[in-house]
Amino acid sequence: MGSARRPCAWASLLWGCLSVVLAQQVTVKHEVTGYLGKRVVLPCNIAVTGPEMKVSQVTWVKEVGGRRQNVAVHHPTHGQSYPMEKNSRRIRFAVNSLTDATLVIEHLLMSDEGTYSCEFATYPNGNELNTTNLIVLAKPTSSAEAMEVKSSNVEQPVAVCTSANGKPPARVTWQSKLNGNSSIKQINNSDGTVTVINRYNLIPTKEANEQQIICLVEHVALPQTESFPVQLSILYAPEVAIDGYDGNWYLTRNDATLVCSARGNPTPIDFSWTTSNGPLPKSVEVQGQRLFVKKVDYSVNTTFICQATNRVGQVSTQQIILVREKPKLVGAGTTGGIIGGLIATIVALAVLATGILICRQQQKNRMDPEEDDLEGPPAYKPPPPCQLSEETEPVANAAGAESLPFKAPYFESNATDNLFGGVGTTATTKEEVPRYHELPTLEERETAGEAGPSLEDEYLDQINPIYDALSFAATEEDEALTSLPTDKAFVMSRAMYV
Ligand SMILES: *[C@@H]1O[C@H](CO)[C@@H](O)[C@H](O)[C@H]1NC(C)=O
Ligand SMILES: *[C@@H]1O[C@H](CO)[C@@H](O)[C@H](O)[C@H]1NC(C)=O
Ligand SMILES: *[C@@H]1O[C@H](CO)[C@@H](O)[C@H](O)[C@H]1NC(C)=O
Ligand SMILES: *[C@@H]1O[C@H](CO)[C@@H](O)[C@H](O)[C@H]1NC(C)=O
Repeated sequence: MGSARRPCAWASLLWGCLSVVLAQQVTVKHEVTGYLGKRVVLPCNIAVTGPEMKVSQVTWVKEVGGRRQNVAVHHPTHGQSYPMEKNSRRIRFAVNSLTDATLVIEHLLMSDEGTYSCEFATYPNGNELNTTNLIVLAKPTSSAEAMEVKSSNVEQPVAVCTSANGKPPARVTWQSKLNGNSSIKQINNSDGTVTVINRYNLIPTKEANEQQIICLVEHVALPQTESFPVQLSILYAPEVAIDGYDGNWYLTRNDATLVCSARGNPTPIDFSWTTSNGPLPKSVEVQGQRLFVKKVDYSVNTTFICQATNRVGQVSTQQIILVREKPKLVGAGTTGGIIGGLIATIVALAVLATGILICRQQQKNRMDPEEDDLEGPPAYKPPPPCQLSEETEPVANAAGAESLPFKAPYFESNATDNLFGGVGTTATTKEEVPRYHELPTLEERETAGEAGPSLEDEYLDQINPIYDALSFAATEEDEALTSLPTDKAFVMSRAMYV
């Protein structure tokens, strides 16, 4: 087709193009889509090739399963006739013309679907025809609803989405965050349409109650996907609690109230109050969920029972009331205690933080002047232990060591102790133990300037010649071991040394 047309557009081979035009005299639509119950138009025209051309009859023929059925006939003298539906006027020619055979079908039926052939009996060319496919679509009518079920642990349908009378069948899906499952059923209707029913199956827990799921319906006859949100309704018996007892019901108190709160589906609205030893005392008044005590006396020193009822069940719960002679001191009560404790904790934390800050500042101040002192023997002394509690000290040390730019743990006296008497090292002193991998790497030495390396090297030489080799080995090892955890690096170094 495409290759046949191009020469017409691009080249001037008129004879070749003319022959193509002559072969396509009857123009129709290859495919026509109509909607059930609506009107459809099947266009058909014959090209008039010259004044001598005569049309002696026009016929629309429907082909169903290889059988040919005359639908509409137009004869120049006998007029128009519709052999298939003689008097219905449902099917008719659009105009009274022998060259325009356009056919109109009203109130489209599913059975109208098929292949239609538009045929012209002409002189001098003989019969000319072309065919068109009529496709009948039916727009489905869709809806979705929740199916009320009682909560249980058995999977069952909780919602149903129906897309009725579609052709072709609609695509019906569920959109949901719940862990459910859908099951689809199709019904072939007698008119050729299809009804699709998609049920959403779920284990109906009460948590699924009021959750939303959405049914999506897609169909060729719909301009866009239709969506039908559904709120699940899982029925469950009331969950009851009695609120309002503060443990401080004293004689003559007059604002004591109990509230029976219940959740459930359907929402419980039926509440009944009793006591463990029978009917309610005279001093109480009940309004639905609420129980008011006009004036506390020993008659309410009892156990109150609230029963909530809904369609699914009856559930009751109880509250023991202890009537006191005198009011409880509220300040010393539980809430007061909690607030007091909170304030005390905040104050303690503030003091602690200030202490740590001061301690770190002192450490820093002590170390700064010694960094400039290159001539003297290594005069570094570990900072005096912070004047804080024992618990905070290692915390402060660890934090300080990490934030200090100058890595100096191997200067510490207890560090050397650990090295030489090293077998006794325990986990508790781990922070103080020198870490060979903390020796500056070559890069660090370069960036640290001239002072750093000379100071360290001199000092290491003075302490023990073996440090020299060790520090180099450790430095190289460190470069190889940078990816290993620090503890591992330390263990290997010490093993080598021992
Ligand atoms: C039939 O109609 C189609 C669409 O109008 C056209 O492309 C085709 O050439 C026609 N065929 C004949 C034999 O006329
Ligand atoms: C989904 O349905 C199938 C069969 O109906 C069932 O075997 C399967 O357990 C279901 N899956 C879930 C997650 O409910
Ligand atoms: C409905 O029709 C389709 C084909 O159109 C067929 O495959 C399917 O089995 C039919 N279903 C029923 C329930 O008849
Ligand atoms: C209140 O009830 C409790 C038991 O719930 C009982 O031990 C107590 O003696 C009662 N007090 C009075 C004053 O009746």
